[in-house]
Amino acid sequence: MMLVVALVCAGLQPAVFVVEPYLQLGPNPREAHVSVLWHAREREGWTVRTASSDGSAAATSWSVQAEQRVGSRWVLRADIGRGASYEVLRHGRVVFQAPLRTLPAPDQSYRVVMMGDSGRGTAGQRNLAGRLAKAQPDLLGIAGDIAYPHGTVEEYDRYHFGVYRSLLARTISFAAPGNHDTGYNSLSRFPTGLAYYLFWSQPLNGPALATDFGLRGTDAQKGAFRQSAGTNFPRMSNYSFTFGNSHWTVIDSNPYLNWRKGPHRDWLAKTLETARKHDWSFVVFHHPPYFTGKTHAGHTFMRSIADLLARHRVDAVFSGHVHNYQRSRRIDGVIYIVTGAGGAELYDRSFENQPARWQPFTEKFIAKHSFTQLDFGGRRLTLRQIGLDGRELDRIDLQAK
Ligand SMILES: [Fe+2]
Repeated sequence: MMLVVALVCAGLQPAVFVVEPYLQLGPNPREAHVSVLWHAREREGWTVRTASSDGSAAATSWSVQAEQRVGSRWVLRADIGRGASYEVLRHGRVVFQAPLRTLPAPDQSYRVVMMGDSGRGTAGQRNLAGRLAKAQPDLLGIAGDIAYPHGTVEEYDRYHFGVYRSLLARTISFAAPGNHDTGYNSLSRFPTGLAYYLFWSQPLNGPALATDFGLRGTDAQKGAFRQSAGTNFPRMSNYSFTFGNSHWTVIDSNPYLNWRKGPHRDWLAKTLETARKHDWSFVVFHHPPYFTGKTHAGHTFMRSIADLLARHRVDAVFSGHVHNYQRSRRIDGVIYIVTGAGGAELYDRSFENQPARWQPFTEKFIAKHSFTQLDFGGRRLTLRQIGLDGRELDRIDLQAK
């Protein structure tokens, strides 16, 4: 009888969240702060509170800064800081609590993990998610292809939020758009597509142009999408930020954008020049310029920016698209990492044990589900590739230039 009552009560209790809180850089990142986003059916009645671990400082309340309607849900955001943990309250009642991780100061040590091509719903993705959580990174970067196959709202729910839920609550994450995220840009065919622009909150400091990257659909569909995405579309396609002593430039390598000449290339050159004052400079985009393999062999069009990356002394580039791990030797000073082994089916496994088939610039090729772990300690950095069993598949130590 009690069980029946409990079940009935559970059935009557509306779910508080559509998607539980997750940490983001936010539109204007700054040291010791972070943005928290969550999705809910209800728009009103929310606050966020931060507190010290021992209760020595008074808890601080933060209000909701932004809300966007996406279908039947609201995407809500609060910009927060100061504290060891954060709590989300609804009508004054705590409904969610997690440790708070904010952007580090330049003299702090920190851990970043990178991966790409993750949201496929495979056993490999789910197992790797467990290993990622154990790594306890301060920052998680996804080099594109976040939710397969079409980057829709429903695919995000199943293959991104559904898989990384607890990790995303305590780790700041950022992403570059891949072909599966923004390439299916017909709202007539995919009415809930382009969810990249709806669910991420990242710096809005890229080129502001009057372009819609060929967005298709009826005027009503386009209008509704623009309203939901707000200022994210299309500006959040390209951005940069500082994390501790490293600078990150994230760009959209999808072919609707021209990197050979024009305003995006000019913006990139200027951004990379600014990045040089930091100890480390990294660039993240989906399509790798240099890689070994038969799959996508012709997709090397991003070599068009290799001269800029070299000239501005970028330390490393992280890409996905090719579903395995590869590390190049330095090409004009830049190390090119393919970290596309985040969950989708692996490519060209037969190459792994046949170095004779590798391109001359390839130093490591591993076709196993895995992620790239970067441990920063001042001007030293250790890059490791970590497999499903936690073993180190590759390792290099780097010194800042
Ligand atoms: Fe891809």
